[in-house]
Amino acid sequence: MDKQQLEQTAQALVAPNKGILAADESTPTIKKRFDTIGVDSTAENRIAYREMLFTTEGANENISGVILFDETLRQSLSDGRPVPQALNEIGVIPGIKVDKGAKALALQDGEKVTEGLDGLLDRCKEYYELGARFTKWRAVYTITDDKPSHACIEANAHALARYAAVSQAANLVPIVEPEVLMDGPHTIERCEAVSTWAFSTVFQQLFHQGVHLEGMLLKPNMILSGNECATQAGVEEVAAATVRTLMRTVPASVPGIVFLSGGQSDELATAHLNAMNAMTDAPWELSYSYGRALQAPSLKAWSGAAANVPAAQAAFLHRARCNGAARTGAYSDEMEAAAV
Ligand code: 13P
Repeated sequence: MDKQQLEQTAQALVAPNKGILAADESTPTIKKRFDTIGVDSTAENRIAYREMLFTTEGANENISGVILFDETLRQSLSDGRPVPQALNEIGVIPGIKVDKGAKALALQDGEKVTEGLDGLLDRCKEYYELGARFTKWRAVYTITDDKPSHACIEANAHALARYAAVSQAANLVPIVEPEVLMDGPHTIERCEAVSTWAFSTVFQQLFHQGVHLEGMLLKPNMILSGNECATQAGVEEVAAATVRTLMRTVPASVPGIVFLSGGQSDELATAHLNAMNAMTDAPWELSYSYGRALQAPSLKAWSGAAANVPAAQAAFLHRARCNGAARTGAYSDEMEAAAV
């Protein structure tokens, strides 16, 4: 493990005014996204869409790294340049999703554990050769009256920590992603309690596995009301609860926290991040690693037509700019409205 290299990469990923684009949708997930715009999910369409995002001029001012799916890391742009090379040339760090997805957790009805540890070191070594410098592994936790179970919390924390250790052994910065899902009628208080349990267990396991905290990033959910909860917490309440939860669970040695958007609207995801950065002098950088919240307007504008690429890139650039501003609490309604 080259600690210095890991630390430098982790810090570069949370550099001022920058965050991460999560474009690592698996083949089934990108098909779901393409279904919403009536586009066939072929390999050609997938790289055409991602090329539109990656070649958006100026986006590299607010995008430090891109998380790729295995297929994309091996693809080339239309000008023949391999994707990792094209990203490196504009100062954007290529990353790779290395988990094999959330699978049914035995004996725990409806709960999941993320798989992918077998052979992981060899895969990581190959990804490093292909140009990746960081990785991602996502665990999911469902909230109901009696879930998550102890089994789900422990199994996912253990797998996340084993993954992070293997990733660091291959000199790839791990982005550790415990996602407490927003689905359901639960309150924001219940989300906070479950997230506190999940995150603190993750850091206990990271300690057990000897993970170098200065050379990793955490990618958590924000603390939100369940999406079917009658009373929805406002922006300030979400920001305060999220910072409080992280202060209680995340060591100050971790260089950055890069939130997932998790199904929040793009504007709300930006507003929440902005409020956190406006209210706190946190010990870690508070940034983004958004998938849907960076891509949604752009995907719609693109709709599979080459002629729409300029409009789609303008929409992507706008979201990148807004989120970049949210890194310092400088995002505003005026900035949002002064669109594309
Ligand atoms: P969302 O921001 O759409 O939740 O995606 C982030 C991600 O990488 C999920 O693993």
